Order: sequence, then structure tokens, then C-alpha cells
Amino acid sequence: MTLLVLTTRPGAAQTATTLLPLPAEARYGQGRLLLKAALKPLLPSPAAPAVAAAVNRTVGRLSPATKVVGAATLQIRYGRVGRPELFDEERYSLRVTPMGVSIDAPTSLGVLRALATLEQLPRPDKKGRYLPEVDIRDQPRFAWRGLLIDAARHFMPVAVIKRNLDGMAATKLNVLHWHLTDDQGFRIESKVFPRLQTVGSTDGLFYTQAEVREVVAYAAARGIRVVPEFDMPSHTTSWIVAYPRLASNDSVYAPYTRWRTTNVAIDPTRETTYTFLDSLVTEMTTLFPDPYFHAGGDENDGRNWRRTPRIVAWMQAHHMVKADGKTVDKHQLQTYFNRRVMAMLQKRGKTMIGWDEILGPDLPEEAVIQSWRGKKGLSEAARLGHPVVLSNGYYLDLNFSAASSYTVDPLPPDTPLTPDEQKLVLGGEAAMWAEYADSTVLDSRMWPRAAAVAERLWSPQAATQSVADMYRRLNLLSPQLETLGLRHRRAPELLLKQLAGTDNVGPLRTLAEVIEPVKEYKRNFQGFNYTTATPLNRLVDAAPAESEVARRFAVLVDSVVTPRIGAPNFLPPAPRQLAQLRAQALRWQANDVLLQPLLASNLSLTEYAPLSARLATVATVLMERLTQLQTGQAASPAWLAATRATLDAAQAPAGQAELAVVKAARKLAGL
Ligand code: ACM
Repeated sequence: MTLLVLTTRPGAAQTATTLLPLPAEARYGQGRLLLKAALKPLLPSPAAPAVAAAVNRTVGRLSPATKVVGAATLQIRYGRVGRPELFDEERYSLRVTPMGVSIDAPTSLGVLRALATLEQLPRPDKKGRYLPEVDIRDQPRFAWRGLLIDAARHFMPVAVIKRNLDGMAATKLNVLHWHLTDDQGFRIESKVFPRLQTVGSTDGLFYTQAEVREVVAYAAARGIRVVPEFDMPSHTTSWIVAYPRLASNDSVYAPYTRWRTTNVAIDPTRETTYTFLDSLVTEMTTLFPDPYFHAGGDENDGRNWRRTPRIVAWMQAHHMVKADGKTVDKHQLQTYFNRRVMAMLQKRGKTMIGWDEILGPDLPEEAVIQSWRGKKGLSEAARLGHPVVLSNGYYLDLNFSAASSYTVDPLPPDTPLTPDEQKLVLGGEAAMWAEYADSTVLDSRMWPRAAAVAERLWSPQAATQSVADMYRRLNLLSPQLETLGLRHRRAPELLLKQLAGTDNVGPLRTLAEVIEPVKEYKRNFQGFNYTTATPLNRLVDAAPAESEVARRFAVLVDSVVTPRIGAPNFLPPAPRQLAQLRAQALRWQANDVLLQPLLASNLSLTEYAPLSARLATVATVLMERLTQLQTGQAASPAWLAATRATLDAAQAPAGQAELAVVKAARKLAGL
């Protein structure tokens, strides 16, 4: 068990922590270490190259522009070089005094995590930045803290992966799950089967093997493992485009350019499939030192198999039939396939990981299950003795709030798992599927929300109960991530400028800030036919996954409608909050007039005119309600009915985006 200690000393302003994820234990003191000069590193000799490089980066980021080395030291001590792939210890202690900083850890991994913490400690004051006096003891709650990046739907260049690895290091995420292949493309160079990467996709983009090694080394230097995913037997159109002999139904395919699941699957009944896979796995396992290898396994409804007489006959001959003795059972065939792939991986010292769907009674226990479809999958897998990683609730591409991920816990207090089963829960993974994210948009669809998952997986459960405090720290983290090179704030801003055709994006930003892309996979179902070639450069792509303006608005509304503790209910709401809400409503109401000329003149923006008009309508309702609250008037039934209709209409999406302020508006209106 870890203890959370937050010492509150009267007058010490340093207790509001800036750290995300929260450490297991932190005691703040009164002293300060002013960052007037660069810290002087004191490293063990010899120091691991990764440690020396990380210390240099941290010292650079903490230093004032002068880079003059001062008297304050950064003392590093560690026991041995850590092995991330063995889930080696990441524990550390970090002590800041006015004289300097010292970091102690059993392994070099702990040093890397401590440096990430140190980089989040600086605070501003009149004399410049300083580090607060603090004594931190920290360790992760879960060993597997992953982030999946889909580089198959949209190719993500190496620079994009690297800056996201920097974001992962800053938030102590330690597994990059690199989704390298899917229906739309095979994104890694095979020298044995080069058609995979050259003809599997329409754009022909892929990572060379040299680039893969570069990414793996970059990650390792930050204590991050890289687990590649080769998704099979389904999600393999690109493979079959390149090598038609893999097909189940003897069809020839063109590269797949749409987003819906195809259920196209390779043929698990032919030995030539396994000869192919064996060569591919041999080649690919040498590129990735991590002992885990993801073989996918998701979303195969078996239609390719059931509709192919040759495969049906094979299944019947192998007794892969349901209880009626006749109907073929695709699950048994997939389990057979899994076992064959697993044996291939085992031969090369690799442990297989796969999605929920690979789970079956005959799956060997050592296979790791990544649970994406629901909470039940996690429990079922653990009960059957499999190590498990939770992704359900952590899908960043669904555009749900940071809070929604934050409140999902792989081991909640009411977990149905026994203590032994709980030990099988390795951790979790945020997942960023890239149907609606290209290399430009990607960062803003992941950050800063990925950090909410990072904290859930790193920090003690008891210390992470406040969603409001998580958001406070997320807002401190966001600019830090920007200084590391992430473009989650800059890219949407540039897109607004591009859409506006001018640097004067004020009114367009006011609208963009309060809309969000439609949630889940609804962008697929709104009459807009996306293909791999559709540019992601509309207003919806500049809209935040989670509107911070809308979130703050909702907090303000809550503060007005929630009766204040100790106050009688009839007391009018605080005038300051009402004034803030009115100012906000006025801004929204006036915005439509300012924005309409641009929306009308720019074809790519016209589709958003309804959202701008609806925002003005919502604002009008808000102002009426604020007047009621300020004058103590009750809302008439007619007003409530009209308002309900207005707000229902305001929730309708346009351009695959929706207003993010309607829910809070309803609440304020008393609906
Ligand atoms: C998945 O989202 N199909 C794993």
C-alpha cells in the first residue's frame, strides 16, 4: 500500500500540486530552489547513455535562457540499468531542497520517471521560475501503461511518433502499441514480402526498417516499450491485396479506402498461409525487441470463411462445428489460427497479445487479452487465467471527455476479481484509432486527454478522486506538452487560419471552441462518405475532442444551480457567477452576426452556419434564464416548453460536429 501525504502548512502556497500523474507520496516544504542558472548534473560514472541523455534534456528544459551553470546540483543515483520489457522497477524518490535536487532509484527507469516529475515542478514567481522544496516517493500502480497509435488508417510519420513518445514520457506512459497494419495499409517495410507495404495501401506510405529501429531506440531511451500489432486474421485486406493467395474466398481485392470494418480475413485452413506468416513473423520479431507481440484478432465475423465451400468442408472435416454437429463454428477456426500463430511467436520467445475476440476455452493461458468491448471481457479473461490490459473506456478517438476515461479503473473498488485474478491485470492502454485523424490532427485528438488515462494507470486510486483537480492539472500539462513539440494546440489554430483565409480568426474560434466532433463512430453515419483520401481539414477537424470552454461553462452552471452548502435554497445564486455567465452568453449571441459573412462566403465553412445560428439561439435562452434567476422570477410552463424545443433543435449536429454547451444550457434552464 502507498500513502498519500499532502502536507498543508499554513501560508504555503506550494501544496496545490502541478504534477500529472500525481505521485504516490509528496511532502512539500517552505523552501524554494530558484532556477536562475542551469542545474549542475552529478551522475554516477559510468552512467547509462539513456540516463545521461535524459538528464541533459531535463537540465535544458529547466534552465533559463542563459544556460550558465549554477551551484545547485542535480544528483542522480541508481542501482542498475532497468529493463522496461521485463516490467522492471520504476520506483524513485526525488528530493528538492534550496541547495539542489537529488534522485534515487533502484533502476535507471526510476530515474527517467523522476526526471519527468522534476520537469513538471517549476512554478513562476516574481523572480522567475523556481522548484518548490519537496520530498517525493513514487511508484506506478500498474506496470502496463500504454498508448495505441493507429498508423495504418492514416500513416503517421516518424516525427509524429517521436513527439508523441515525448508526450508519453512526460506522463509516464510506458508502452507504445504501434498498430502497423490494417485493411487500409501495411505500414512497415517487409524485405521478404515487399508488396505488403508497396501495394497494400493507396498512398504507399510505410516505415522503413531503419525508421522502425530509430523509433524503437528513441522509445527505449525514454523507458518506453514498443509493442507492434500485426492485426490478423481479419483487418487484412492490405495483405490480401498484396498477396492474393492469403485470401479466404479466392477473390482479388483493390486497396480498401473506406472505414467500415470489412470482415475480410486470411485463410486459416491452408498451410501456405502459415508458411507466409512464419516468414513474416521471423522478419518482424527481429525488429522489435519487446517480448510481447500483438496479433490483433478483432472484428472477424467469419463471413469470409462461412461463405467459402472449401473452408466449410475443411472445418467440417476438423469437427469445427456447433452443438448441432453441422453448423460450422468460426470461433473454433479462429482459435485454431490463434494457436498456430501463438506457437510461431513462442518459437521466437514472444508472448502473444490479442484483442478480446481471441479469448476462448482453448487459448493457452499465457496469451494476454486486451479488452476493448466492455468490462466483462476483462473479468472473463482474468478468470480464465490470462493477463489482461484494459482499453474499454480509454478509446480517445471516440471523443469522449477526459473525465469519462479518468473514472474508468482497471481495478475499481468493487472489482469482481479475486486477489489472484487481480494480479493478472497488467494495466491499461489509451487507444487512438486514426480513421478521423491524420498526422496533422492526431495530437489534438490525443492530448491532453491521454494524460487522464496515464494518471489513472500510474497514481494511487485514493489520491485520484477529484475530476476537477485532474482538469486543473491537465490545463497545466497542456502547455508543457506543447513545449515538448506536440501540436495539439497549434494545429487546430493553424487550420482555423487556413479556413478563415486570414489571421483574424476570432469569431471562427469562438464557434470552434464550443463545438466537438460527433461522438463514437457517428462520423461514419451522417451522409458524408469518408475515404482514405478525404482531407481532414474542415471545421470539425479543428474542433476540440473535448471543449474546454464548454467544460468551464458547465462548471459555472453547476455553481449556479447547485444549492450552496449551508445556504437556504431560496437564496439567489452568486451574482459574480451570474455576471460571468451573462458575459459568456452575450459573446455567443453576438458571434453569429460577426461570423455569418465568413460562413456564407467560404464553401468549406457554409455547412457550419446552422451551428453558429444555434449557438446564438442558445445564448438568447441563456440570457432569458439568467434574468429569471437574477430577478427571482419563476420560468413559465410556456417558456420551459419553448426552451426545451429550442435546445433539442440546438443539439442537432452539422458538418459532423455538435454544440458542446447544450447540456449545461438545459441544466441552467431547469430542464
Ligand atoms: C478494435 O477496436 N477493433 C480493437
